[in-house]
Amino acid sequence: MKRRFSFALSFFACWVAVARAQKAFADAENVGGGALEKNRPAEAVQVAAAVVEPFEPGMRTFDRGWEFRLKDFAVNFNKVGIGAGGNNNGISSLLGETNGWSCVDIPHDWMLSMPVAQNGRNGFRAVGRSHPANSVGWYRKCFTVPGKFETRPCVWLQFDGVYRDAQFWMNGVYLGRNESGYIGCRFDVTDLIEYGGTENTVAVRVDASRGEGWWYEGAGIYRHVKLIVKNPDHIRPDGILFRTLKVEGGRATVSAEAEIEGDGRVEFELDGVAFEKTLEVENPKLWSPDAPNLHTLVARLVGADERVKDEVSLKVGIRQFVFDPKRGLLVNGMPTKVKGVCCHGDMGCVGVAVPDALHDFRVKRLREMGVNADRTCHNPPTPEFLDACDRGGILVMDETRLFASTDEGLSQFRRLILRDRNHACVAAWSVGNEEHNVQGREVGARMARRMKALAKALAPDTAVTYGGNNGACWTGINSVVDVRGVNYVRIWTSDNKRQGFFDAPDRYHAAHPEQPIWGSEEASALSTRGSSECTGPKDVQLMKDGDDPVDNVRFPWVATAEQWWNYAVARDWFAGAMVWTGFDYRGESRWPATVNNFGVMDICGFPKASYWYYKANWTDEDVLNVWPPWRPCVTNLWVDSNCDEVELFVNGRSVGKKKGDRLHHLAFPVVYEPGTVEARGTRNGRTMAFRMKTPAAAAALALKADRTTLAADGADATVIDVCALDMDGEEASASDEFVFFECEGPGKIVGVGNGNPLSHEDDVCEDGRWKRRLFNGKCQCVVKAGDRSGELRVKVRLASTGAVSEVVVSIATPACMSGKKGEEK
Ligand code: GAL
Repeated sequence: MKRRFSFALSFFACWVAVARAQKAFADAENVGGGALEKNRPAEAVQVAAAVVEPFEPGMRTFDRGWEFRLKDFAVNFNKVGIGAGGNNNGISSLLGETNGWSCVDIPHDWMLSMPVAQNGRNGFRAVGRSHPANSVGWYRKCFTVPGKFETRPCVWLQFDGVYRDAQFWMNGVYLGRNESGYIGCRFDVTDLIEYGGTENTVAVRVDASRGEGWWYEGAGIYRHVKLIVKNPDHIRPDGILFRTLKVEGGRATVSAEAEIEGDGRVEFELDGVAFEKTLEVENPKLWSPDAPNLHTLVARLVGADERVKDEVSLKVGIRQFVFDPKRGLLVNGMPTKVKGVCCHGDMGCVGVAVPDALHDFRVKRLREMGVNADRTCHNPPTPEFLDACDRGGILVMDETRLFASTDEGLSQFRRLILRDRNHACVAAWSVGNEEHNVQGREVGARMARRMKALAKALAPDTAVTYGGNNGACWTGINSVVDVRGVNYVRIWTSDNKRQGFFDAPDRYHAAHPEQPIWGSEEASALSTRGSSECTGPKDVQLMKDGDDPVDNVRFPWVATAEQWWNYAVARDWFAGAMVWTGFDYRGESRWPATVNNFGVMDICGFPKASYWYYKANWTDEDVLNVWPPWRPCVTNLWVDSNCDEVELFVNGRSVGKKKGDRLHHLAFPVVYEPGTVEARGTRNGRTMAFRMKTPAAAAALALKADRTTLAADGADATVIDVCALDMDGEEASASDEFVFFECEGPGKIVGVGNGNPLSHEDDVCEDGRWKRRLFNGKCQCVVKAGDRSGELRVKVRLASTGAVSEVVVSIATPACMSGKKGEEK
């Protein structure tokens, strides 16, 4: 048995090695494969097997040096079984194929490189059941581990997110399948891994033909791959539970426990203070959205000989979330209105393959707006997004994709909770969203009960909630969860007409005063950045609903920012809500739009009009904004601000002065004339001003990098915003001409975007000639650091005038970087 196994392995290794050493030919069959291969001739790649050294206990990302092939193997599993055995060499014989592979780094989303297609999956790209040639991809990675081990370490391969229906092999042996496109999986490969220089090969087949949701979901290994190495006696991966048991009178009680494999005792340390099970902390630095203090928890497994066999270090927060039926959410005893947003996982021009640093970018933009909570819709987020929320002070409603108490449903939910339960930011688990067929029925209640019981067993202190769009309905899922989640205070009526507010949450609360309530989704108003009803055909996405130039579109269930926020502040028992959505996202759009426009910010993170209403109410910063853009059809200007008083001027002449009211906009009737609009406001004796003008042509570009120092790790990334300026150096806010991007130095551009929901331009470019139109004067690129230090110069050229602007990003070895990011890496 043993001999056969090693024969199969060496046969496999040899086959792959021979294949990989051959020079490429693009054979006819392969060129006829997926669309990527049409753009870029298929090439046999010769990636040297990565050397994993030192092979020490711990967790490392395993993202580099993967190869990708957008084409299923013709023979597939007809003659070749998924396992090896008998005279069947299994997957080895398929992976030996030379052609059609290209080098990729993980995270990777191949869907974004596909052509736009109306019959594609959500997000309108040529992937899905109508595009079988673009819907199945293979990944492989070869690596060696030098050295010998007297005792084999325990080794796992962890995939944080593969979209979707993935099958995994290592060294020809089938590891298993994970259908979920959102929750990751981990395989114990202890017995399989070869040491001493023999090649190991990991292979993954991904079938992205089907959707799991109704938004853009991407395709491929779009989250990190991780390699975990531990001693045979160890703390189980995800085996630690840290809890805040009490926060009271300047002290806190915390506890920790760990599941172990093998022998030994576990010792804990919180910021260097040792404890066994519980610890009293005097004057703790608590975690809250305003002060997201984190602490270091170290767990050590110590053997009888006092040697440390395993050590795990985690960032944790000391905090208590209590959902109170009368006072809303209490964070460490303080009533804290939830000023939240819902977010899908894709970002701007990178699709779902979001570099870690861009999660911090998004959290920063949300915090600037005053956001303190996020609902991860409608699926588990990437773990690195939760790290960013821990650091940035965003509470999270962490949602599983599958509302089900079946084995699969519970397995997905279990993996989510075990993975995320020690994050300071996680305030609630969501068992699902709008499950129309079961939500109001007893079957829904039964399923929710099982899911809730599982959650309580694994994370006893975290509330369980659900996004229900079933109004005042008490039966079913709503009757089981700790916190009633209301999707929309305005309920969709059966006659599908716009109506005033429905009193469903009020009635529900009156009937069930003991159950806390929050808005699991609110608003859902559509608007396009820089566009209003009168800016022209760009606004196909806007339904002309008339009276609200900020939140232009209403579906029957929509409340504008002003409507729902006034509702929330008037009710202490209503814990607050999460706006649908923080950012525009791909998919769920009406063709020809490929991106929808539900966001308070566009898909690049540029603010839209309602951003200023929220910011005026959700922060203490001075805010003054006037809307819509100054164009000939404007008859009414709206001011959102937190000023005590605002005066508005057209070409220097006052058109009125009004008392400020941050909860409501101020409306000023106006007659358009070319020129400028200015607003002057006062707040607590301070003055502030806003200015806009009839847009002029672009003459130059202003660039702003979100971060100007990146780690030279091949993964760090930053966003560069591009803003068009006119001859006078003011925003050319209607400009939509092309700009061209180039970069020199240790790094590369990985995507370009402009926030236009209707744009069909390429976000990623195969030939290195990066270009994008401005959209209402703005666009953006994302750059990724290379592996060596130096200066990365990003140049952007305006098509009409040829004006070039440049921004320099230093790529530094982590040791040379100052600040939090560098220290943590
Ligand atoms: C909700 C749904 C969201 C999104 C939204 C659009 O009912 O939960 O996923 O579709 O509507 O308004």
